[in-house]
Amino acid sequence: MNLKKDAGYKAAEYVKDGDILGLGTGSTTHYFIEKVGMRIKEEGINVMGIPTSFQSLLLAKQWNIPITSLEEHDIDLAVDGADEVDGDFNLIKGGGAAHTKEKIVDYSAKKFIVIVDESKCVDKLGAFPVPVEVIPEASRTVINALEDMGASCEIRMAERKDGPVITDNGNFVIDAKFDEIESPCHLEIDLNTIPGVVENGIFSQMVDKVIVGTSEGIKEL
Ligand code: A5P
Repeated sequence: MNLKKDAGYKAAEYVKDGDILGLGTGSTTHYFIEKVGMRIKEEGINVMGIPTSFQSLLLAKQWNIPITSLEEHDIDLAVDGADEVDGDFNLIKGGGAAHTKEKIVDYSAKKFIVIVDESKCVDKLGAFPVPVEVIPEASRTVINALEDMGASCEIRMAERKDGPVITDNGNFVIDAKFDEIESPCHLEIDLNTIPGVVENGIFSQMVDKVIVGTSEGIKEL
């Protein structure tokens, strides 16, 4: 049973001929991109993709999905994964450090579908630390500000490179753990007011539909 694959493949059914697609990042979106590639090959649908990361760019190329950009096209449908989804469709994203471009693409789409397996569904956001992309020179002052707001913070370290994770935009990521996130919408705004913060991983009030892969089958919320 592959719940991420179930959700990703289901979302690909919403793709229509002629669509401009926002291509999210991560292991669930992997399956969405794969299925879109299969539909291009098998059904000859004519779509173009706008990637949210080098990962989704490379995968789209592998599946012969034509690439375009936000300068050239508006997005009809964006499909992306999440690290947490609450009952009001607020998200935490950025577990793969791609949340800045994801937010630009997902926000601009006419329709935004989130694909997750059931482990991502929570009552309240916050068990997963909020990823905050920062200009490297501002790391210390941003951490001070985040700690003043009640978070405990770590600069995300790379696993197969010495030193910090460097995002696709050349920045660092601070993982900020808040005890409880009472108002995702307010926290999203507040975090972005700290000088040096590029973007944070809370996505509030953006989602049109959530497709959840569960052990009892697909649920569409
Ligand atoms: C990328 O930075 C993230 O926002 C991903 O979309 C999110 O972490 C979900 O990834 P998985 O589908 O791999 O769990």
